[in-house]
Amino acid sequence: MTEIRVLTDEAQFRAHCTLFRRAIHAQAPSDDSWAITLPSYEQGRVHAAFDGDEMVGTTQSFGSSLVVPGGAVVPHSAISRVGVRADYTRRGVLTALMREQLSALPDPVATLRATEGRIYGRFGYGVAGRVREVEIDAKHAVIPGAMTGRVRMIDADTADKLLPELHDAIGLRRPGQISRWPGWWARQRDRKGEAENSVTVVHSGPDGDDGFLTYKVTTEKDFKHRLSVEDLEYANADAWRDLWIYVVRLDLVDHIENEVPLDDPVSLLFEDPRVVLTKDVFDEIWLRLADVPRMLSARTYGHADAVVLEVHDKLLPANDGRYRVSPDGAERVDASADITIPVDLLGAVYFGDTTFSQLAATKRIEGTRLADADALFAVPQKPVCGTFF
Ligand SMILES: CC(C)(COP(=O)(O)OP(=O)(O)OC[C@H]1O[C@@H](n2cnc3c(N)ncnc32)[C@H](O)[C@@H]1OP(=O)(O)O)[C@@H](O)C(=O)NCCC(=O)NCCS
Repeated sequence: MTEIRVLTDEAQFRAHCTLFRRAIHAQAPSDDSWAITLPSYEQGRVHAAFDGDEMVGTTQSFGSSLVVPGGAVVPHSAISRVGVRADYTRRGVLTALMREQLSALPDPVATLRATEGRIYGRFGYGVAGRVREVEIDAKHAVIPGAMTGRVRMIDADTADKLLPELHDAIGLRRPGQISRWPGWWARQRDRKGEAENSVTVVHSGPDGDDGFLTYKVTTEKDFKHRLSVEDLEYANADAWRDLWIYVVRLDLVDHIENEVPLDDPVSLLFEDPRVVLTKDVFDEIWLRLADVPRMLSARTYGHADAVVLEVHDKLLPANDGRYRVSPDGAERVDASADITIPVDLLGAVYFGDTTFSQLAATKRIEGTRLADADALFAVPQKPVCGTFF
C-alpha cells in the first residue's frame, strides 16, 4: 500500500534526490554536489511515496512565477524530480504522487518537462508551448551590419553573481517565461563545472547591461567544433541581435545549436537564411491549470463574441463547470456550453500555441463557435519558457 508523505529533513531530501537520480539512470549526488543541490529542496514542496519505511517514488516543486498572455505574472509551481524506483514502476506510485501533489499545490498553476509524451495528460497537463531546435552552419553564416552595443566576456565568479541580478532586471518578457529560484542558479553552477567549458558574455546598450549569453564549445570526432547555446536572455532586439553577431563571428566554430521560440526570427538575421536548419520541434511547457477560474481570469483575451467553455477535471473537481470567456475576461456561469474541454487540453490552448479548431479537427474536443474561441485565445507571440528545470 503506497503512502504519500511530505518530507521535511535533510537526510530525507538526500534520499529523495538519490532515488530520483537513479530513476533517470544518473549517479547519486556526491557530497559536493549535494551541498549545491540542497537549497533547491523547499519545505512543503517535497513529496515521496513510501511502501512501509521504504521510499519508492519522488516528486517536488520549486516556487516560481509564470507570465500569462497579457503580461500578468502568477505564482507557479515548477514540478521536477519525478521518479519511481525501478522495482515499483507500473503499480500506481506516480498516480498516487501526482494526486497528492496536485491536491496540495500551493500555486494556481504548475508546469513541467516530460521525459515521455504519454505520461502526464492523464494528470491534467497539456502541451502549452513548444520550441524549435536550430543548427547554424557557422562557416557560411553572415549577419550583415555592425553591432549597436558592446559584448564583454565575464569569468565564472562574476557570472555567478551578475546573472541572477541581470535576469531579474531583464524581466519576464513573454508568456511561458518563469522566474528562476535561488536553487536553480545553484544547480546551474554545479552543471557548469570548469570541465564543461562554459563561457558567459554580457551585452550592454545605451542603458547598461541588457542581455547575456552562456555557451560551450565541444570538439567532435572529426575535429569540428560545435557551439551549444545554453542560455540567451535579452531585454530588447538590439541585445538579441548583437549576441547572435558575437556568436556567429567566433573563430573555429563549425556549427551553432540553440533552442528558440517557434516564431523566433533568427533565420532572418542571415544573408542566406538557409544556413539555419530546423533540427527538431518539441514540446517544452506542459501546463496544469490547478485553479481554473483564477487562471482564466489572470490572462487577457482577443476580440470576438463571448464563448462558454465547459471544463472537466477528474483530479480536481472544483474546476468542473462552465466559464464564459469574452474580451472583458472570464467568469463562472450557469449557461449552456459552446465547447466541452478536459483540463489538459484547456492547458494546451491557454497560451495560444494550440487552437480549439485544431483540437476539434482531431476529435479531441467537441463544440461550436470554434473560430470565436480561437480568436479569444489568440496571442501575438508564441509562448516559450527558456528555463530548464
Ligand atoms: C515515469 C514514471 C515516473 C512512472 O511511474 P509509475 O509509478 O510507473 O506510473 P503509474 O504506475 O502511476 O502509471 C500511471 C499510468 O501512466 C502510464 N505510464 C507510466 N510511465 C509511462 C511511460 N514511461 N510511458 C508511457 N506510459 C507510462 C502507465 O502505464 C499507467 O497507465 P494506465 O493507468 O493506463 O495503466 C516511472 O516509470 C519512472 O520513474 N521512470 C523513470 C524516470 C522518469 O522518466 N521520470 C519522469 C520525469 S518527467
